[in-house]
Amino acid sequence: MLKRFLFVLPAALFVCLPSSCKSSDSGGSADANDAGPTEDTPQPPAEVTFPAGFAWGSATAAFQVEKGLTATDWGAWVKTAGKIKNMDDPDVLGPDALAHIDDDIALLTQSGQNAYRFSIEWGRLYPTKAAFDADMPDMAGVTAYDTLLTKLKAAGVAPWVTLHHFSSPSWLSDPSMADAPQAWERPEMAALFVEWCKRIAKRWGDKIDHYITINEPLNLALGGYVQGSFPPGQLLAMDRTFAVVKAEAKAHAQAFDAIHAADTIDADGDGKSALVSMAFHQRAFHAYDATNPDDVDATARVKYFWNAWLMNAVVKGDWDDDYDQKYDGPNDKLGDPTLKNHVDYLGVNYYSDTLIARSHGVVIPKINASVIQDHIQDSRPKNELWWDVYPQGMRQVLDEAKAYGLPIVITENGIADSTDVNRARYLTEHLQQVGAAIAAGADVRGYFHWSLIDNFEWANGFCPKFGLSAYDQKTKVRTLRASGQQYKKIIQAKKIAQSDLDVLPPYVSAPVNPCN
Ligand code: FCB
Repeated sequence: MLKRFLFVLPAALFVCLPSSCKSSDSGGSADANDAGPTEDTPQPPAEVTFPAGFAWGSATAAFQVEKGLTATDWGAWVKTAGKIKNMDDPDVLGPDALAHIDDDIALLTQSGQNAYRFSIEWGRLYPTKAAFDADMPDMAGVTAYDTLLTKLKAAGVAPWVTLHHFSSPSWLSDPSMADAPQAWERPEMAALFVEWCKRIAKRWGDKIDHYITINEPLNLALGGYVQGSFPPGQLLAMDRTFAVVKAEAKAHAQAFDAIHAADTIDADGDGKSALVSMAFHQRAFHAYDATNPDDVDATARVKYFWNAWLMNAVVKGDWDDDYDQKYDGPNDKLGDPTLKNHVDYLGVNYYSDTLIARSHGVVIPKINASVIQDHIQDSRPKNELWWDVYPQGMRQVLDEAKAYGLPIVITENGIADSTDVNRARYLTEHLQQVGAAIAAGADVRGYFHWSLIDNFEWANGFCPKFGLSAYDQKTKVRTLRASGQQYKKIIQAKKIAQSDLDVLPPYVSAPVNPCN
């Protein structure tokens, strides 16, 4: 039941129940849905172009593509019965990225990409607290990441490094002690995370210029403390959820300062030594019934919390401690200098759209809203996780981000599509919206497709296939998909014309959620 209302969790987390996923199951309010939230999004121009110096890349995360991350909370989680679809094991089925560095770099260069977003795993370099305290990193891990960074440089591919992508070291987060404070709830977490970031920036500042401190801070909290699909597996634990989100925001700001202090080397010669952000998961939101003021209010509340609260904190220093959209509470602050201007660019992950009602099935406490996953819009194509394909939402989140006046980078965008029938169109339509936003004044500097290669999609195991490349789970041999060739075409042309879309086949909607 819970899985039906949690909208914003990472791709792999939302699993429709067959009865709840039928697009025909739109109940009495089908009209409200079908009114369609495309109203305010302008048609993209007939041709869009991308600026020189644009970062064209794709993204992965360590736990999703590497092997042997047993000293992490996710390492324990995958061994816990009932948590992962089919108990899929990354050590057996995964692409084993660190043993296939050359192969993955070949996928990047074959498709013309000049940037690669990946994460360096804290629990790989420091599997124990003693190792961290003594600063004695695991040397095999250091060598592996060093090799990756060195080879990327030789290949002309810029590394964009994430320092925390959902998984934490076991010595900070242990799902078998779920009632005890975990990772971001622990008072010592911020200082330890800052130290971790500082060490990476110091060790590899000569190779890295682009950092993402924390991936999708809100999704991490919702996965772990609302839906329960992430460690520590709590359900509707709202106080813990908010504590985690706040801790991440504050730790990020301190890490931002530490990275800038530690990395003063301009690795790529563009005059900047370190550009630091988070990857914010932004969504389009629409009221389930646009004629119902309660649904409209609930949608505004969710949208504020999800798309604006954290950006307001780390860009403007405006801290809305009670999430009421006002800065009049005892712990609220405007322009707090410890938070303000603590991102150099906005990293935006965009996937899809969500319908919100005031009350429809499960109501999320404190946020006082329901997320409607079983009444998604009939008219839209669906990916294989039964998410709406909604490229206009890309334009909407970019227009929102533009208002902060910072450069923007799309740090993730992609589609679960095991047969690659839809990915070329999805990629092209979303990039067309990026180009349209640029034409309208958004300073978008790059785009990272999720993902370079099929990988472990959290609770859904290896079922959803997000890769521009496939691989054989036994031999690990990689193959660039046709959509990877389409990406290359766009990268080479640095523009998209309507005629590029006209030649692509129309979407084929997934008839059911195959990963259910
Ligand atoms: C995002 C996550 C990423 C991946 C994609 C599909 O929310 O950041 O790790 O799971 O969804």
